[in-house]
Amino acid sequence: MANFFPRLSILLPLKISFCAVALSGVVALSVTYYFTPKTLDQGYQPSQPIPFSHKIHVDQLGLDCRYCHSFVDVSGHSNVPTSNTCWNCHQHVQKESPKLAPLHRAMDVNYPGYDGQPIEWVRVHKLPDYVKFNHSAHVNRGISCQSCHGRVDQMEVVFQDQALSMGWCLECHRAPEKNLRPLEEVYNLKYDAKSYIASHPDEMNALGVKTTEDLGLKLKAEWQIAPKETCFTCHH
Ligand code: HEC
Ligand code: HEC
Ligand code: HEC
Ligand code: HEC
Ligand code: HEC
Repeated sequence: MANFFPRLSILLPLKISFCAVALSGVVALSVTYYFTPKTLDQGYQPSQPIPFSHKIHVDQLGLDCRYCHSFVDVSGHSNVPTSNTCWNCHQHVQKESPKLAPLHRAMDVNYPGYDGQPIEWVRVHKLPDYVKFNHSAHVNRGISCQSCHGRVDQMEVVFQDQALSMGWCLECHRAPEKNLRPLEEVYNLKYDAKSYIASHPDEMNALGVKTTEDLGLKLKAEWQIAPKETCFTCHH
C-alpha cells in the first residue's frame, strides 16, 4: 500500500496534462505546434566530423539511401552507416584527402593517429523520448524520406527541413494522400507526380488516374492507408 500513492502522484499530472490537451483541442494543438522546442530546431545544421556531402554521394554518384541507411525500411530506427561502409570505397578513392582524416583514424591501421574508434556523427533529427516513431511503418507505405527530410540529395550539409512537431505529424496523418507515392519512388528524391503520371499512361488510364490528387487518393484506397491519430499511436 505504501507505494500506491507515490505512483499515483507521478501518473496523475501526466494524465491530467494529456486530458487537458485532448479537451482543449484545436487551441492546444496550435499552441503545441508553435511553442514546442522542435519547431525552433527547424533549420538546425550542426557541423560534422567529416564534411560528408549527400549531394556528391547521392546526386552525383547515384548511391541509394539504403546503401548507407540500411535499416530504414526494415526497422523503426534508421541507422547512420559505420566506418566500414565508407572504407569500402575510400580505402581506394580520395585516399589523400585531408577531409577523410577521421576515417583513417577509425579504419587505417597504418595511419599514424589510428585509434579504431567510430566516427562521432552529430545527430540532426531528434524527437523527445516520450514520442514513438517508426521509419519502416512510413517508407513501406509510400511515404518518402523527402516528405520529412527534404531534398537531402541536394544537401552539402544535412539540416532539419521540417518542424517535427506534433502538429506537423498530425497534418499528414489526417491527409496522407498528399504525400503518397508509388513504392518504387520512395527513395527517388527527384520524383515528380505529374511526370510519373505522364510516363505511365496505360497504367494510369486503367486506374482512372488523371491528376496528382487522383493518384494520391488511388494509392490510399488501394493500400488501405489509414494513419492513426489516437494519442497512444505516438506516445507511450
Ligand atoms: C554514402 C552513404 C550515405 C548515403 C548513400 C546516404 N546517406 Fe544520409 N547520411 C550519411 C551519413 C554519414 C550521415 C551522418 C552525417 C551527416 O549528417 O551528414 C547521414 C545523415 C543523414 C540524415 C540526418 C540524420 C540525423 O542525424 O538526423 C538524413 C535525414 C539522411 N542522411 C538521409 C538520407 C537520404 C534521404 C538518403 C538518400 C536520398 C541518404 N541519406 C543517403 C550517409 C549516407
Ligand atoms: C560507393 C563509393 C563511396 C562510398 C561508399 C563513400 N564514398 Fe565518399 N566519395 C566517393 C567518391 C568517388 C568521391 C569523389 C567524388 C568527386 O570527386 O566528385 C567521394 C568524395 C568524398 C569526400 C570529398 C573528399 C574531398 O576531399 O573532396 C568525402 C569527405 C567523402 N567522400 C566522405 C565519405 C564518407 C564519410 C563516407 C561514408 C559515410 C563515404 N564518403 C562513402 C565514393 C564513395
Ligand atoms: C514520416 C517522416 C519520416 C520519413 C518518411 C523518414 N524519416 Fe528519417 N527521421 C524522421 C524523424 C521524426 C526522425 C527523428 C527520430 C527520433 O528522434 O526518434 C528521423 C531520423 C532519421 C535519421 C537519424 C537516425 C539516428 O538515430 O541518428 C536518419 C539517418 C534518417 N531519419 C534517415 C531517413 C531516410 C534515409 C529516410 C527515407 C528512406 C527517412 N529517414 C524517412 C522522420 C522521417
Ligand atoms: C508525410 C506524412 C506523414 C508524416 C509527416 C508522419 N506520418 Fe506517421 N504515418 C503516415 C502514414 C501514411 C502511416 C501508415 C499508415 C498505415 O499503414 O495505414 C503512418 C504511420 C505511423 C505510425 C505507425 C502506427 C501504426 O499503425 O502502427 C506511427 C507510430 C507514426 N506514423 C508516427 C508518426 C510521428 C510521431 C510523426 C511525426 C514525428 C509522423 N508519424 C509523421 C504518414 C505520416
Ligand atoms: C502522429 C503522432 C502524434 C499523435 C497521434 C499525438 N502526438 Fe502528442 N506529440 C507528438 C510529437 C512528435 C510531439 C513532440 C513535439 C515536439 O517536440 O515539438 C508531441 C508532444 C506532445 C505533448 C508535449 C507538448 C509539449 O509542449 O511539450 C503532449 C502533452 C502531447 N503530445 C499530447 C498528445 C495527446 C493528448 C494526443 C492525443 C489527442 C497526442 N499527443 C497525439 C506526436 C503525436
